[in-house]
Amino acid sequence: MNAKECSIKNPVIMEQDNKIRERLKDIDYKIMVMSGKGGVGKSTLSINLSIGLSLENLYVGLLDVDLHGPNVPKMLGLEDGKLQRREDGTVGPVYYSPNLKFMSIAPLLPKKDSAVIWRGPLKTSAIRQFIYEIEWGKLDYLIIDAPPGTGDEQMTVAQTIPDAYALVVTTPQEVSLLDVKRSINFCKQVNLPIIGLVENMSGMICPHCGKTIDIFKKGGGKELAKEMDIPFLGQIPVDPRVVTTGDAGRPIIASYPNSYTADAFRSLTRNLMDVTQASASKEKRI
Ligand SMILES: Nc1ncnc2c1ncn2[C@@H]1O[C@H](COP(=O)(O)OP(=O)(O)OP(=O)(O)O)[C@@H](O)[C@H]1O
Ligand SMILES: [Mg+2]
Repeated sequence: MNAKECSIKNPVIMEQDNKIRERLKDIDYKIMVMSGKGGVGKSTLSINLSIGLSLENLYVGLLDVDLHGPNVPKMLGLEDGKLQRREDGTVGPVYYSPNLKFMSIAPLLPKKDSAVIWRGPLKTSAIRQFIYEIEWGKLDYLIIDAPPGTGDEQMTVAQTIPDAYALVVTTPQEVSLLDVKRSINFCKQVNLPIIGLVENMSGMICPHCGKTIDIFKKGGGKELAKEMDIPFLGQIPVDPRVVTTGDAGRPIIASYPNSYTADAFRSLTRNLMDVTQASASKEKRI
């Protein structure tokens, strides 16, 4: 008996699969933010994008599947946010605003800096649990913040959420672009459609003269998107306020809504809405 047949016959897994299907039915678009490279801004993007979508009056869930480095609660200013276990066994996520809620492993850890020392099967089962045990309710978007690379977490999302999309993040440097190509190839291998590519840390607006300084080059992401035939969804500049607002738990799109960078995040949000809706109507036609 192979592993697949074995899991099909396991009633516990079957019940979980049913619950997962039920939960996912209520969520229109599921988008995993990923990159082959660490530190390119996946969490920053997931958070500002989730807030951006929620400000468009959409219902949004943010699922942090970075089990070793769960940054979402801190970056949202909700490190002390508590999950609510209900009598029926479901768990209520933590609310950032009435239409944005999140789940992360962080609220389950004994201390803020506790290390999670887990391998594949434990990680897979935790992520599956994050989906079926959490009472997500009706959502327009579920944004999934992934750790760097193409490992257990990304594989679990791809296998558990059959209609998920990937949103790939890169920075303009060639080393990042090379690693990002690996993620793109991963998506192709596991049949995870890529909804678009974003170039983060793309040039910097000089606070003195207002001109763009290309400190990490610029435009590599756009070229890569063209080369790989993926929609290019936007560029986010380097902005020191992204760091300070992220550290302070007040994401830039909310704390500096009139800034050029918040504009860039809003434009990215709208482009994402356009491509997901276009892609959904294309699927309906087929
Ligand atoms: N556009 C930007 N301008 C300035 N700083 C940025 C920008 N985007 C992200 N950063 C900063 O870069 C650092 C890494 O960002 P972030 O944690 O979002 O990356 P990540 O890809 O999620 O990292 P990891 O791979 O560790 O999960 C953070 O300090 C963040 O504030
Ligand atoms: Mg991250």
